[in-house]
Amino acid sequence: MNRFFITTPIYYVNAKPHLGHAYTTIVADALARFHALMGEEVYFLTGTDEHGDKIAEAAQKAGQTPKEYADAISGLFSALWPELGITPTRFIRTTDPDHRKAVQTALQRVYDKGDIYFGEYGGHYCKGCERFLTEKELVDGLCPDHKVKPEYIAEKNYFFRMSKYQGQLLAHIKANPDFIRPRQYRNEVVSLLESGALEDLCISRPKSRLTWGIELPFDTNFVTYVWFDALLNYLTAIGWPDDPDYASWWGVAEHLVAKDILKPHAVFWPTMLLSLGVPLYRHLNVHGYWLVRDTKMSKSLGNVVEPLAMAQKAGLSGMRYFLLREMVFGADASFTEEAFAGRFNADLANDLGNLANRSLAMTTKYFGGTLPEGGEDDAADAALATLAAEAVDNFLQLFGAAQFSRALEALWELVRGLNKYIDAMAPWTLAKEGRTARLGTVMAQALGGLRLAAACLLPVMPEAAATLLRQLGADPDAVSLAGPDRVFAPLPAGTAVAATSNLFPRLEAPAKEAAPAAAPKAKKAAKAEKKPAAKPEPAAEVDFEDFARLDLRVGVVVAAAPVPGADRLYAVSVDIGEAAPRPVVAGLAEHFVPDELVGRQVVLVANLKPRTLRGATSHGMILAVKSAAGMALLGPSKPVAPGDRVS
Ligand code: ME8
Ligand code: MG
Repeated sequence: MNRFFITTPIYYVNAKPHLGHAYTTIVADALARFHALMGEEVYFLTGTDEHGDKIAEAAQKAGQTPKEYADAISGLFSALWPELGITPTRFIRTTDPDHRKAVQTALQRVYDKGDIYFGEYGGHYCKGCERFLTEKELVDGLCPDHKVKPEYIAEKNYFFRMSKYQGQLLAHIKANPDFIRPRQYRNEVVSLLESGALEDLCISRPKSRLTWGIELPFDTNFVTYVWFDALLNYLTAIGWPDDPDYASWWGVAEHLVAKDILKPHAVFWPTMLLSLGVPLYRHLNVHGYWLVRDTKMSKSLGNVVEPLAMAQKAGLSGMRYFLLREMVFGADASFTEEAFAGRFNADLANDLGNLANRSLAMTTKYFGGTLPEGGEDDAADAALATLAAEAVDNFLQLFGAAQFSRALEALWELVRGLNKYIDAMAPWTLAKEGRTARLGTVMAQALGGLRLAAACLLPVMPEAAATLLRQLGADPDAVSLAGPDRVFAPLPAGTAVAATSNLFPRLEAPAKEAAPAAAPKAKKAAKAEKKPAAKPEPAAEVDFEDFARLDLRVGVVVAAAPVPGADRLYAVSVDIGEAAPRPVVAGLAEHFVPDELVGRQVVLVANLKPRTLRGATSHGMILAVKSAAGMALLGPSKPVAPGDRVS
């Protein structure tokens, strides 16, 4: 069986976890679940980094011993992960006895090899980074990440001959182009290694100054420098050096980190491995920062988003989806409430949620919730199968290559394609015409596509995808993306499905500043509202300013229902990105059934004054063309965000 080993950084225990830590750990969890679904045996490692200056300092401030303090904060991390659907194989702590013992073994081996010497050094030490920064790395004399002036430290210490392995490391990176990925980080490391001689790494702290660390086996007056200790967790967790099984995990090791700790992982760690005679890891996957108003989210900067609060608000699945979809892996991404609600409502409430709601509701309405025998093929069915195969191939390939945002984009080709398929096949018309066999095939196709999408989404949103699979009569625990479950197939006859889905209720968008509907000058001249000409004769010419007074917006129909006592009218709800959908009373009932409208993008005259029609409020007008062929709704030629302006 193929193996997959994924690690996150082990987090410092000087403050509680925030969204940045949650992101990396969710990505690792999603990759672990993905590889397990691909039929691989998976080891997922995370944990906490507990020694060193800054933990000792934080403990002192809290009036606790370092161990008491580390126990408390490490406990916050290990308790948070299950609440976020994260299930590591091991949660390692650098205070664990097996780790401490193996770190001493490693130090002794490097020492015996002659790669450690005693010397004196002075430099700019950033406690936030727990490392010396070079002059080049400082920005205006400050650490660029922590925005503090590093402390100048000069003392006698032990040094690791990192420079000895510079050439070997550079050659390895050049021979293995995706050793560090994405490429921009590989290039950064290559230019660092090519720009001059690497400094040696100070790997000890005198006990006279710091006692909170692992003692050097060859000199008990010193403790181990925190990075030399922490990086080794990736090996000690899987039983290095004694457990013979460690090598088969190590051979497939993938690290996941943000760019703040690129240098320790791309330079310190591989040179340590070279000295130990241990092969290098397979990939270092590097992501960017979550920003809040252009600044890195960081506990030391005090601008953090609480992951649990976010998960509680939108559901765990919505949160995990947002994080994976919104950040282009490698680049920075901004966290805002608007972006979160916008993404959630567009992709989950509208696209996926509507697809599930309408296809389950129609199957229930037309077939009592049990799929009939199919019949009557159509060229559209073959086209759907092709689209599904392509979307899923792209998804699997991109997800495996850590391109989560692009992978989900690819999968949404299928989700949107299924909504379009339903629109084009018009099950409501088939029902009206009594074409039951074709209707059955259409529902089986749509639900089969939905099941495929749900299977692919299991690593991203384990909870919601499993619920959706159960709603479709499938067992989420039996899904394998290595086998037939990754291939599009209509849902088989006899499958009983749920009556409704309702997995992603819309989020209220946070209050936005209302855009002025018209230029102030035009507003002053406002008088009667313009209506589109009812007759085909050309209307009188208007000035551009007159046209510009109309606030035309694209919206998504989220509900449509008959207005009691009015045969021609529907009460329609249209989402135009505002806090609540717009109520619009529209004369569509003779031309469309409600299912046909829900999920469709329309154009709304958004600044029409509200009025009451048959006792119902109507705030806006849906644009449509009435022709000899019936009524056609206006909409964008490809999906756009609800609330986007028509101009
Ligand atoms: O560096 N955006 O621990 P740490 C994205 N103990 N990711 C973020 C983030 C943000 N704004 N903030 C934090 C350490 N992270 C060492 C690691 S490994 C042997 C030792 C995530 O608590 C991201 O994964 O400072 C980043 O690399 C890590 O937290 C840093 O965690
Ligand atoms: Mg940090």
